[in-house]
Amino acid sequence: DKAGHKHFMSKEIAEQPTVIGEAVRHYLAQDGTSIELPDTDLDFTKIERLTMVACGTAFYACLTAKYWFEQLAGIPVEVDIASEFRYREPPITKGTVALFVSQSGETADTLAALRYCEGKADKILSVVNVAESSIARESDVAFPILAGTEIGVASTKAFTCQLTVLLMLALKAANDRGALDADAIADALSKLRGLPSVLNTAMEAEQGLADASRKLAEARDILFLGRGLMYPLALEGALKLKEISYIHAEAYASGELKHGPIALIDKHVPVVVMAPKDGLFDKSISNMQEVMARGGKVLLITDKEGAVEASEGAWETVVLPQVDPILAPILYALPAQLLAYHTAIAKGTDVDQPRNLAKSVTVE
Ligand code: F6R
Repeated sequence: DKAGHKHFMSKEIAEQPTVIGEAVRHYLAQDGTSIELPDTDLDFTKIERLTMVACGTAFYACLTAKYWFEQLAGIPVEVDIASEFRYREPPITKGTVALFVSQSGETADTLAALRYCEGKADKILSVVNVAESSIARESDVAFPILAGTEIGVASTKAFTCQLTVLLMLALKAANDRGALDADAIADALSKLRGLPSVLNTAMEAEQGLADASRKLAEARDILFLGRGLMYPLALEGALKLKEISYIHAEAYASGELKHGPIALIDKHVPVVVMAPKDGLFDKSISNMQEVMARGGKVLLITDKEGAVEASEGAWETVVLPQVDPILAPILYALPAQLLAYHTAIAKGTDVDQPRNLAKSVTVE
């Protein structure tokens, strides 16, 4: 049932404020100001290294969470693609906790990577949507993301719910390890509780994104740029676009631009720049200006402050609500998804069943 939507993907994009709200509530303690995890003997103070493994969009959720676990909780994090991890057979050192992220919980490579860690890692954790899946069953602790059934092949609400749960785990780890005090946690949680309404407001940017998408639909190649927490979001935006619109899209960390990809820039290659007004904004904008100076057409996705400072000369600017930089990845997933969706609509491709792709990849 598409609930009045033309596609499951648009229904699932629209559901995000609701399901994210549910995920937040699930991990909130009764008092509403602290985090409560399922009953487990998991001890964040004992973790020396966190190894996160996944495929595709779930891998980008891990890349995002790396910033959170490192910056908020001070835990060294390593992130890997499951198909690489499983055959490289990396040494798992004492104090390592392994965390697997999967919507379906059945992805063959992720499951094999998990099995490789059995008996080697101190603990095996998973962040899954399907609670009765193989990955959930074979973990010591499975954290549900509560996104509800995801039917569209391109993952949307599962990604933002993965991010939500991973952020709450990072906040809990930060608190337990003494890196953030109770007040800081309560403050972060109150912002997380407010996120559904921020996302609803952000939906107002849909028309602007749809207009920009009609222009993107004419491109053969598109670049996505982001720094810090926006780098994995740029990767996700490029993946989503490739999957459903079949336009070649690549993402780079903005700082990598001059190490190669800037050679691609001309007026035929639109560049999507994701840059909220955070601590890295000036650096991202200076990379964006390098693109514009070479005739590149920039679609800038930012907030009000960012738009005032930097939208001059941009081809298009999409303005999102202002949020705490820590929460920005969850918010900026929305324009990444909507751009892909509307570009696919403009091209007339099959949004829910893109060619050559399967919802659950149970063979390697
Ligand atoms: C992208 C997408 C895929 C999956 C990947 C992992 O939109 O859906 O990249 O994210 O196949 O799947 P799960 O999360 O089920 O392990």
